[in-house]
Amino acid sequence: LTSRKTALRGRLLWFDADPAVSAKAARFIEDGIVVAENGVITEVGEAAPILKRLSGDVVVSDHRPHLILPGFIDPHLHMPQTQVIGSYGAELMEWLAKYTFPEESRYGDPAVAQEAAVFLVDELLRCGTTTAAVYCTTHPESVDAFFTEAERRHLRMIAGKVMMDRNAPPALLDTAETGYAQSKALIAKWHGRGRLAYAISPRFAPTSSEAQLTATGVLASEHPDLHIQTHLSENHGEIAFVRELFPWSKDYTEVYERHGLVREKALFGHCLHLSERERTALGDRDASAIFCPTSNLFLGSGLFDLAAIRGAGIRVGLATDIGGGTSYSMLQTAAEAYKVLAMNGQTLTAYDAFHMMTAGNAHALGLEERIGRLASGFDADMVVLDSGATPALRRRMARAETLPEELFVLMTMGDDRSVVATYAAGRRVHERQGLASPSIS
Ligand code: GUN
Ligand code: ZN
Repeated sequence: LTSRKTALRGRLLWFDADPAVSAKAARFIEDGIVVAENGVITEVGEAAPILKRLSGDVVVSDHRPHLILPGFIDPHLHMPQTQVIGSYGAELMEWLAKYTFPEESRYGDPAVAQEAAVFLVDELLRCGTTTAAVYCTTHPESVDAFFTEAERRHLRMIAGKVMMDRNAPPALLDTAETGYAQSKALIAKWHGRGRLAYAISPRFAPTSSEAQLTATGVLASEHPDLHIQTHLSENHGEIAFVRELFPWSKDYTEVYERHGLVREKALFGHCLHLSERERTALGDRDASAIFCPTSNLFLGSGLFDLAAIRGAGIRVGLATDIGGGTSYSMLQTAAEAYKVLAMNGQTLTAYDAFHMMTAGNAHALGLEERIGRLASGFDADMVVLDSGATPALRRRMARAETLPEELFVLMTMGDDRSVVATYAAGRRVHERQGLASPSIS
């Protein structure tokens, strides 16, 4: 990275703690500056004193009156499902068989995977998402394609090769041995290169044999610091299938526990229909539950019980789950989270939602010391948001009197159109078209 210093000026917002727990968690500076050097934040504070100290050769991108937040984090999505979104009329198991598995079968072709990786990374940055936990396909080529693109843009990204050795078309299956060996080779090739991290990725219990889960447990024990990502308790048909496939197990979660896959930095997508015992197991082992509201609504999977998950001390992430999910935008994802919780007699404040999209998701990924806050030493990954991006937003914002109200309307009505610019490692990696550039002073 260049040693060039950069600075952004605007309305700074971030969270130093969880606003669901601490009243002083939100940090807001009306006219603030973030200074970055070598991809890392070196200074955050009021604009006036920082401007006095900054030497003349530092370029300040002036984004006033827009908001500047830590880049959004999306802890669960599928790279090969960008052309699956909006597939009609099926619940999970039928949706996988009818739409998703046939589409993923194409990704053994490096050209297919590369084209999709470029699209996905562009789209994430357009939505202000700077870090994601990404499922590729069974094909190692799909992981090479994604990481190549993420590395080219200097992004902090997490991804892995899906392991699956049964209950899917042959073109998508590996074996206990090849799944292990291919994952091992990809870890050696990609993990820790730039800001990239490898995630051990057994798709879910129904598509792995006991032999594959055993091999996956060995891999996990050989790499105790790596992320693990999989799916858990999304759909009643899926849960019944797991009961059939693993008759020895008292519940779905125990299948993963038995194989050493429930631990810190293990990311469990969905977690909709867990028993008290299962929640306790996840909480005791410090695993993460990933809430994917647009997917849960689209596939009719169920309503995430945030209060119960938090009550068990489980780390919570909020994710798009593209392409069961229907929006790449974390703003839209938060809007749907609010509605899911409303259906459950629960609520989500604007601070809670914006915390989840940033520092909360960083915590769910075990990356709370690197990303998700505007603080010295953190990665200089940021999103610039325009609260008045559309006529409807501008009209509604005229009545917004407080910051929490502005933020709540922004997440309810905003989307990629609200993202003015995205920065990763201190560089501008996306700029909204059709509008004036930020003035450089
Ligand atoms: N469970 C196993 N695979 C998938 C997937 O691709 N999407 C969703 N939503 N659930 C899954
Ligand atoms: Zn998923």
